[in-house]
Formats: sequence, C-alpha cells, structure tokens
Amino acid sequence: MSDLEDIALRSPVLGDGMAVFRLVENCPPLDMNSSYCNLLQCSHFADTSVVAQMNGALVGFISGYVIPERPDTLFVWQVAVAEQARGLGLASRMLAHIIARPHCVDIAYLETTITQDNPASWALFKRLAKALSADFQSSEWMDKNTHFAGQHDSETLVRIGPFNSRS
Ligand SMILES: CC(C)(COP(=O)(O)OP(=O)(O)OC[C@H]1O[C@@H](n2cnc3c(N)ncnc32)[C@H](O)[C@@H]1OP(=O)(O)O)[C@@H](O)C(=O)NCCC(=O)NCCS
Repeated sequence: MSDLEDIALRSPVLGDGMAVFRLVENCPPLDMNSSYCNLLQCSHFADTSVVAQMNGALVGFISGYVIPERPDTLFVWQVAVAEQARGLGLASRMLAHIIARPHCVDIAYLETTITQDNPASWALFKRLAKALSADFQSSEWMDKNTHFAGQHDSETLVRIGPFNSRS
C-alpha cells in the first residue's frame, strides 16, 4: 500500500527527463511533449517544477514556469501522477511544494489551463484555491477552432490568487 510519506519530492534534474517523458506518456489525457521539451523543463524550469519519487521510481511530475512578463504569476503547465500513486493527495502536495520554495517568494497568482472534461484537474485546482484562501476564476482562452485548428479541445484559463506564498 502506497503512502504519501514514502514519496520524496525534489526539483528535477536533467537526468529525470526521459522518466518524465514516460510518465507523461502513461498519463492520458496529457499531451505528449518531445523528450527535448521535457529535458528543458527538467533544467531551465527546474526551480518551478517538481518530481516525486517512490522506491526509486518517478511517480509524479509538475512542470511550471514564471510568466516572463508577470513575475508574480506561476504558470502550471502539466501535472502528472502515476496510477499507483493517485488518490493520496500527491498532486496537491507537489503544487504546495513548488509554491513554498524560496524561488517563488514573489508569486501571488497561479494560472493553468484545464479542458472542460477533466474533473480531477478542476477538483485539484479548486482545492488549491481553498487551501490558499484565494479567489478562483476561469475564462475562455485557447479555443478548439480558433487556436487548435480543431485538433485539440478548448483549454479554459484558470487564475488563482492573490495569495501569500509564505503562508
Ligand atoms: C489529475 C491528477 C494529477 C490527480 O493526482 P492525485 O495525486 O491523485 O490528486 P490528489 O490526490 O492531490 O487530489 C486532488 C483533488 O482531485 C480530486 N480527484 C483526483 N482524481 C480524481 C478523479 N479521477 N475524478 C475526480 N476528482 C479527482 C481529489 O478528490 C481531490 O479533490 P478533493 O480534495 O476535493 O477530494 C492525476 O489523476 C493524473 O495524473 N491524471 C492524468 C493526467 C491529468 O489529467 N493531468 C491534469 C491535471 S492538471
């Protein structure tokens, strides 16, 4: 039986890139990125990303970055938890882990996008807003036809904040 206490969180390193690639591959409906993209997430974006390890295996990953023109806003790109580690609160714990880092001391808002048909993702970010005592707003952003040429479901923009990353 898995237990959250058996799972260690840390910033990713370049050597995690291919394990991240495989984890995302096993976490539909997430979009696959190139392994090169995952390597960049594990290096240039390591301060705002996290990996979770259980018994030596990579079971969780969040990629994120600070929006370049808005240094108070963390954008969460992808959240992936391996099936054997789901339902333990790991995704919530990984989000909290990133927000609590010294690197995120000036972060007051979190943004992400969610497709309408992903209840787990909606629940995850609503729970985060509640835990941070912050507002939760959603609005249209990336449209299936206008922006994805009909190839991908629309992505709704979610914005959480303001919050104090030190509390
Ligand atoms: C979404 C995902 C990251 C959740 O990981 P997790 O570690 O099991 O999530 P947590 O245990 O932290 O749960 C967070 C919240 O989501 C809810 N949740 C988790 N899985 C759910 C599901 N399948 N359906 C509905 N709600 C779900 C939990 O109940 C919890 O909400 P609550 O506190 O109101 O009960 C994981 O299921 C996953 O990797 N899915 C495939 C990839 C994906 O869809 N990623 C997008 C997420 S942004």
